[in-house]
Amino acid sequence: MPRAIISPSVLASDFGQLSAECTRMIKGGAEWLHMDVMDGHFVPNITMGAPILACVSKGVPGIFMDCHMMVAQPEKWVNDIADAGGALYCFHLEATTDPLSVIKLIRARNMKVGVAISPDTPSTAITDEVANAADMLLVMTVYPGRGGQKFLDRCVPKVADLRARFPDKDIEVDGGVGPNTIDACAHAGSNVIVAGTAIFNATNPEDVIATLKATVNS
Ligand code: DX5
Ligand code: ZN
Repeated sequence: MPRAIISPSVLASDFGQLSAECTRMIKGGAEWLHMDVMDGHFVPNITMGAPILACVSKGVPGIFMDCHMMVAQPEKWVNDIADAGGALYCFHLEATTDPLSVIKLIRARNMKVGVAISPDTPSTAITDEVANAADMLLVMTVYPGRGGQKFLDRCVPKVADLRARFPDKDIEVDGGVGPNTIDACAHAGSNVIVAGTAIFNATNPEDVIATLKATVNS
């Protein structure tokens, strides 16, 4: 299985000090930072977009921004996110009828490609062709839209199915993940772990990061 990567979701951070919060996570052992971009269409909420990401990439040199694009037209934001310093552009399969052309646009801007599925989308919706063209597959373990929701156990078999089909891909889980739910995710084969409230609400975020990483690597 690919190496463990911890990607704290900044949605649970203090947005007024976003760069400092990202730096704190990197010092605490996080490899990536998970940036939840919501457009008010694909999901009801609006969070942040390219101008804010650009500030963070300037403020935190070397940061790897794992951009989770909860947007209705994923093709529309590829250039802006690339210009803002996005390292990985993860779009939702539900938001497009032509995932391969979105992937081409992302590749043309030298970002890594992620393909996400919401809880009601089966893992079989990710075809071999799409998965092979991507770097990472994201299995949502809550309905996209907000942080702090309860982990949906029923999404875990999709992780196991994708790991069996794609032994070398990065497989990310996102939503309600923390020390209480990491065992199931790691056992099913996820290696990229997003956690928002579990990390940012902890007294010692570095301990939570270490626990998540150790569980994936064990
Ligand atoms: C939900 C977002 C998640 C969320 C995770 O729409 O995609 O990244 O912030 O937050 P927690 O870990 O608190 O569920
Ligand atoms: Zn997310």
